[in-house]
Amino acid sequence: MPAEHPESTVPPPAGAPKDPSRRTFVATGVIGGVVVAGGLGAGPPAIGAEPAAVSEAPPSDRVSLSVNGTRHTVTIDNRTSLLDLLREHLGLTGSKKGCNAGACGACTVLVDGRRVNSCLTLAVRLEDAEVTTIEGLAPGDGDGELHPLQRAFIDEDAFQCGFCTSGQIMSGVGCIQEGHTGSGEEIREWMSGNICRCGCYVKIVRAIEQTVHGK
Ligand code: FES
Ligand code: FES
Repeated sequence: MPAEHPESTVPPPAGAPKDPSRRTFVATGVIGGVVVAGGLGAGPPAIGAEPAAVSEAPPSDRVSLSVNGTRHTVTIDNRTSLLDLLREHLGLTGSKKGCNAGACGACTVLVDGRRVNSCLTLAVRLEDAEVTTIEGLAPGDGDGELHPLQRAFIDEDAFQCGFCTSGQIMSGVGCIQEGHTGSGEEIREWMSGNICRCGCYVKIVRAIEQTVHGK
């Protein structure tokens, strides 16, 4: 008896009986692209039903950018935020995910020298960008030397739990570079996008003032 051939997935020949045998039933399902492995798990559709949509992989793109002086080229889902790129793909977990909605500032990093909420920034739009995170702020080669604002945060004891601190420091660096440090009030205004649930605001402002004015 001849073996079954792969052409079992080919539609039944013209003139085949209308009443479908198991063989023609399976062939119809496979050709319609509605195999159970499609993910619905509901088995083959009824004869004559519209074929289910074939699920597609999410759109992805390649992006090449510099993070803390190191070049990275990655292929990622188009919807990936810069924060997720840093934390999930590059293992840089210093930038924190607080609200993930642009409201707390815990995820603040510098992109081409400007502070941004990385949770609201699409990574695929950062081709050739220079990103600086808290991990890359200190000068030197990991010899323990800190950025002056990092040192001032320690000196002023400007944190408690520390969850907001990397975002506060990156935002503070941006605030200083922008020149919004003429007074404590001005610093508070330009740091108002960074929330501290531990209420360290007074000391955070002092740390920025110490960095700028040596107070
Ligand atoms: Fe980005 Fe809150 S985590 S602003
Ligand atoms: Fe705890 Fe700011 S130090 S949230």
